[in-house]
Amino acid sequence: MNATGCKVAVVGCGRIAREHVAGYQRLGDLFDIKAFVDKDISRAEGFARKYRLGSTYGSLEEAARSEELDAVDLCLPPSEHCRVTVAAAGLGLHVLVEKPLAVTCDEVDKMVEAGQRSGVVIMSGQSRRFSGPLRKTKQIIDSGGIGKPLLGYVSYGMKVGLNVPWWGDPKVSGPSNLLANWGAHSLDEIYYLYGVPARVYAEGRDTGGPTAGIDIFSAVFGYQLGFVANMNWSYVSEMPTGQVGEIRELLPTKGIKGCMGTQGTVQYGQNVGPTGVLLDGRTVPNDDTDVNQFHTMLREFHAAIAQRREPETSALRCRVVVEMIEAILKSCETHEVVPIAGKGAIEY
Ligand SMILES: NC(=O)c1ccc[n+]([C@@H]2O[C@H](COP(=O)([O-])OP(=O)(O)OC[C@H]3O[C@@H](n4cnc5c(N)ncnc54)[C@H](O)[C@@H]3O)[C@@H](O)[C@H]2O)c1
Repeated sequence: MNATGCKVAVVGCGRIAREHVAGYQRLGDLFDIKAFVDKDISRAEGFARKYRLGSTYGSLEEAARSEELDAVDLCLPPSEHCRVTVAAAGLGLHVLVEKPLAVTCDEVDKMVEAGQRSGVVIMSGQSRRFSGPLRKTKQIIDSGGIGKPLLGYVSYGMKVGLNVPWWGDPKVSGPSNLLANWGAHSLDEIYYLYGVPARVYAEGRDTGGPTAGIDIFSAVFGYQLGFVANMNWSYVSEMPTGQVGEIRELLPTKGIKGCMGTQGTVQYGQNVGPTGVLLDGRTVPNDDTDVNQFHTMLREFHAAIAQRREPETSALRCRVVVEMIEAILKSCETHEVVPIAGKGAIEY
């Protein structure tokens, strides 16, 4: 990587790649987008035209043969994450891979090994991890702002159709699109705020909605020191957005998230007050209200490459998110408590 920035190819030119390109544009010279890659070449060409930059290719291998690249940004459906990450690492390229990191922990292990073999960064694109309100909430909890944390909660309800066709295909999105898609964000938030749970019990079902697999579930995470985190998620019921102080905040809604402690309660998210954070129902000053921060995620990717260090959301550290997905699915199937080992995970 030289002074002109990290030379990157965006692989997969669909919905989320647009947000990534907007993120690169906010970062000025840190990155240099050399190529757009899509197996549907017309999509890559559409990106090159729209942003007036980059060459276009139908595969990563073709792009790597013709361009001098430092890194790839994989905005591909989940079933492609492992295969293309391993291929990119084999070519000596640093990899940022969209969430979910992979469909199974076995796949994550292959990705981590490939990165270690080639000495490249493999980073999980947990974009919401870099959310301003979430970071503020972590500061409040860690500095004792709510006393001893007792119960964390994440509840969402929304009606979701097939925004892209593969959301209905378990072979592409994984056994449950809800868990792979939104679940990966919410589970990463639980991991980031409270650490690795020891076990989970979950009940869920496939109501026959359009997305693959389980589309409604409730999960309870138990921690070693008695802390409890609770997660309710529904793709098939749209509830009114909750306002603090109203009875409907008790219902699953578009994002009611927070933590009760011995001395207070913090709530956070895009529907929570003017700054995205409330402490005991009062607005917490917070400059950064952006909940989905692609540019901050990309800046961390760049810094990890430049400083030759593990990124905050490295594949190894975020393997546990995929483990939590697998554990919820197993618990829903067996109706048993499933332990979580947390291989590779850290306390943030
Ligand atoms: N961070 C977020 O908030 C967020 C939001 C939406 C989607 N995502 C994630 O981003 C990823 C992509 O989702 P999307 O909604 O952009 O999907 P999409 O279907 O809109 O785009 C995927 C693109 O990849 C291309 N593609 C598929 N296989 C390929 C291959 N082997 N080589 C080259 N191109 C290939 C497809 O032709 C398509 O253009 C998923 O993992 C999804 O979970 C993240």
